Amino acid sequence: MEKRKVIIDCDPGIDDSLAIMLALKSKEIEVIGITIVCGNSPVEMGFENAKKVLKQVGRLDVPVFVGESKPIKRDYVNALDTHGEDGLGESFLPEVAGYEQEIGAVDFLASVLKREKVSVIALGPMTNLAALIERDLDAFYNMEELVSMGGAFKSHGNCSPVAEYNYWCDPDAAALVYEKMYQKGKRIHMVGLDVTRKIVLTPTILEYICRLNPETGDFIKKITKFYFDFHWQWEHIIGCVINDPLAVAYFVDRSICGGFDSFVQIETQGISLGQSVVDSMGFYKKEPNARVLTEVDSYRFFELFISRLLDTTPEKLDILQDMIGRV
Ligand code: RIB
Ligand code: CA
Repeated sequence: MEKRKVIIDCDPGIDDSLAIMLALKSKEIEVIGITIVCGNSPVEMGFENAKKVLKQVGRLDVPVFVGESKPIKRDYVNALDTHGEDGLGESFLPEVAGYEQEIGAVDFLASVLKREKVSVIALGPMTNLAALIERDLDAFYNMEELVSMGGAFKSHGNCSPVAEYNYWCDPDAAALVYEKMYQKGKRIHMVGLDVTRKIVLTPTILEYICRLNPETGDFIKKITKFYFDFHWQWEHIIGCVINDPLAVAYFVDRSICGGFDSFVQIETQGISLGQSVVDSMGFYKKEPNARVLTEVDSYRFFELFISRLLDTTPEKLDILQDMIGRV
């Protein structure tokens, strides 16, 4: 089977880090580069954090490119309250010096997408993609597929009653991306809160991971402790929603999620700024520009996530079903 080439555009970030680990462990994917965008962490911090994750998994061969440092119009608002002052759950992992690239993220995206069939898995605000549209629209349109962790259809927001962080942090960028996809008759895969909220890493699952593979488990425990505390304080759940890895799992196995095609527009102003307005009933009579995902098999996600991160086979995850239960 030929590997599919992928660029991961992200804002590490705790769940971004788990997503990077999953992508690098998935044999279907060749990660040809990681582009960093301002989001959870300021972009330079995200660059440092990506290197820490790559060092952990022995993959510093993967180039990391620094992208946009602020949204295209709005003031930048980070999410360090959720991801800790170091952006990695206050794990304060040792810095990894060097590995700077000659070019920035947008130039990397433009140069690669123009010449090769590459998909993008976007796990942060879409500021880099908006900058790519402005710089080289043909390269943007040459993207094989675009899978975006972002937005919400019927699920409540996590930055306002209706807005999810990635689209709220830079709504103008998200709006431009969805508009350009509409103009070209292409569809973005929207892996939104409707499905990611069902992907909860619980203490029991984490303990299971630690027993199966202490080194990987300890790393995940280090970077998620702060995230567990945050979720208890703000969402009153015991566990943490790991949004971004689901976008990678869905890229690898589309059957993990279900949904429908719809026209989607992103609100860029007012009280619902950042909302992904999903026209599921066709009021606007516009062709779909998105695959909106609304159902997920959380058991199959964790089976894929754990078996790949721990280099084991699903058959060996005997007690996982008791912990998750099939949906
Ligand atoms: O709203 C959740 C999303 O925003 C995730 O991608 C998280 O990492 C942050 O970027
Ligand atoms: Ca993210």
